[in-house]
Amino acid sequence: MNQDINAQFAQVDKSWNEATVVAQAGRPRRSAGAAMSQPITLSSTYVHGSDLSYGRDGNNSWSALEAALGELDGGTATTFSSGLAAATAIASLVPTGGKVVIPQAAYYGVKGIFGAAADLNHITVQLVDGADTAACIQACEGAAMVWMESIANPTLVVQDISAISAAAKNAGAIAVVDATFATPLRQKPLELGADIVLHSATKFIGGHSDLLLGAATTNNDALAARIYSYRHDNGAIPGALETFLALRGLRTLAVRLDCSQRNALELATRLAAHPKVTKVNYPGLEGDSQHEIAQQLLPHGSGAMLSFELDATPEQADSALESLALITHATSLGGVESLIERRARYEAEMNAGVPLTLCRFSVGIENVNDLWRDLEAALNRM
Ligand SMILES: Cc1ncc(COP(=O)(O)O)c(C=O)c1O
Repeated sequence: MNQDINAQFAQVDKSWNEATVVAQAGRPRRSAGAAMSQPITLSSTYVHGSDLSYGRDGNNSWSALEAALGELDGGTATTFSSGLAAATAIASLVPTGGKVVIPQAAYYGVKGIFGAAADLNHITVQLVDGADTAACIQACEGAAMVWMESIANPTLVVQDISAISAAAKNAGAIAVVDATFATPLRQKPLELGADIVLHSATKFIGGHSDLLLGAATTNNDALAARIYSYRHDNGAIPGALETFLALRGLRTLAVRLDCSQRNALELATRLAAHPKVTKVNYPGLEGDSQHEIAQQLLPHGSGAMLSFELDATPEQADSALESLALITHATSLGGVESLIERRARYEAEMNAGVPLTLCRFSVGIENVNDLWRDLEAALNRM
């Protein structure tokens, strides 16, 4: 079990700012000759006599990242081979016949996990408008799990985690928040009352588009034990190299995010004034319908993701994105480099409800004027 992992690593001072925590948490205990960084442990088995017996039990490279994420999220973190593997482990907590409440605008892969279970009549699913807090609260009645995604992909909807988690708990349901877009530095779902927080560490935590990884953190020991057992018994373990790289990425999360968030706010403002842009979704933007809730729930900013809609056909939008020279026309997000794509380019059912010209933009740490010149030129070509 991974409950005592903090004992292996250097102590984190509770008074530290988070920029200090990301730089320091999960390092080996300080002693003469100790390594500065937790080494990559490549071993499928261990000598008998400790908690670690076989490779699926645990690995110190995983534990170092889990110690750091646990500090940031405020609970016990368990890492997985991808964000969806972590989501699958969380979904396994729903009992047969249980109802899961999930936002219509949630990441399509997560909706797919629950949809597949519902197709087999293992569970029922109720889709809700995540931005409609009253509807989310009403849907909690009779639920076994209430899934939130805040900030949501790709609509950037911010959910009222406190109110919805309270209603979920009242109903005896497990409250889960996918906080991939917000990152552990912009939102603390467990402090807001959620039971479990999910991160696709593939994105901002890794930060360099070179790995896939997921994490589930909870402050409920019974749930932590079940999540750990699921990983052990089902085998969706992380790779030692991936956890090493993700922890190295985490070291710079504070500076990366400060920079890319500044860029995102500036680009959202410039996009909103462009004649070809009909709508900009960025919760921190003045005039955005979610500005108020963002100020309340995301006091340190809304992160580095934005999306916008165009006065164009989907084909025109695609060719504009393909013409970009600096920003890369590719899926995924959260890296130091800017990526953009029209989400509805995938099969309609995968992105049901996503406007046809909605472009999701993962803003990187490049110079903001270079990014704008590239984007403006592409928009003006349409
Ligand atoms: C919000 C969100 N949750 C979960 C996932 C799944 O993560 P992974 O791709 O690491 O499996 C993604 C991937 O894009 C995502 O954007």
